Amino acid sequence: MSGNQSASVFELDSPQLIIDLDILDKNLETMVNGLNGKNLRIHFKSLKCGGLVKYLMGKGHSSFLCAKLNEAEVLADIGVKNILIANEIVGDLKIARVDSLKTKSKVKVCIDCEEHLFALSNFAQKFNTSFDVLAEVDIGMNRCGTFPGIPTLDLVKKIVATKNIRFSGLQGYDGHLQLMLDRTEKTKKAFEAFASLVNTRRLIENDGIEVPLVTTAGTGTWEFAVQAEGIDEIQPGSFLLMDCIYNEVRPEFQPSLTVLSTVISRRTGLYVLDAGSKAISKDFGMPIIKGKPDEKIFKLAEEHTRVECVGSPLPEIGDKREVVTAHCCATMNLHRSVVASRSGKVVDVWPIEASGRYD
Ligand SMILES: Cc1ncc(COP(=O)(O)O)c(C=O)c1O
Repeated sequence: MSGNQSASVFELDSPQLIIDLDILDKNLETMVNGLNGKNLRIHFKSLKCGGLVKYLMGKGHSSFLCAKLNEAEVLADIGVKNILIANEIVGDLKIARVDSLKTKSKVKVCIDCEEHLFALSNFAQKFNTSFDVLAEVDIGMNRCGTFPGIPTLDLVKKIVATKNIRFSGLQGYDGHLQLMLDRTEKTKKAFEAFASLVNTRRLIENDGIEVPLVTTAGTGTWEFAVQAEGIDEIQPGSFLLMDCIYNEVRPEFQPSLTVLSTVISRRTGLYVLDAGSKAISKDFGMPIIKGKPDEKIFKLAEEHTRVECVGSPLPEIGDKREVVTAHCCATMNLHRSVVASRSGKVVDVWPIEASGRYD
């Protein structure tokens, strides 16, 4: 990418990842207006880009979570002071990385068993340090976490009794509900999931243990979580960038992320773009062409995307198209930089520091 600021994004070479800041600002505003007093902690596993986080910090957003240590390291390096690693950290090599983050930021990690607790405590005692931990509760996703109620209370009692460890609250992520389309079913299941989390909070509090934070939800369930009493914080990420799959369930947020692509071949009824699955994630389904409902992507190969074009005139060779991805987080992970645009013009180019990493 040339770095030619104020150029029209359509003059850029392709494939090129683009974030439309006008749309992103509206998504953020919609979220902030609906928070109902809850804290917004933004998930960096969707963004992966320090420049975008600095942009959000400039708008007053300072709490972030992430899935992996490499993401936490990027956040700490750019000055984020309040980081939740919403994941279990296993092994002394990783625990040492958490420990070194603490020179820059306040960091919390999740645990769901005694093994996690003892490993953190042993490390902390050996190196004269301490850790802030959240007990992760499985509120129906069937991934990490203790079951709600007594099993979580039992773990929390152990956390409170363990040397060099501070109990910082509960995390329960309702990942199984995020993309659910049936609204009635989703509403019911979401409130059940949050009730199991909040009831667990009350059980712990009734045992005399303070629960400083209860954090949950994502883009797909934010609307329900902000209504639930006993939840302090929501942790969505995709709402800022969005994709066509999430947009179906959450039309209040529009895709700000696109992959600019060029038409490189055409024949009757179809054309081919110069970006394929190495530039556009397809793990959640088929991407779409922005603003062109009659042009339907039907196949992504590594470096080509084939688009059926029967109801409208074929584009010319060299014409540009913006592809709305089917999974924004995974698409950010494929690119090394992203162009930030406003009113169709380039305003900045940001490296995506945490892309291509899984450590
Ligand atoms: C722990 C956790 N919280 C929240 C989210 C929500 O993220 P998003 O809003 O991008 O769906 C996720 C998504 O994977 C997650 O793993």
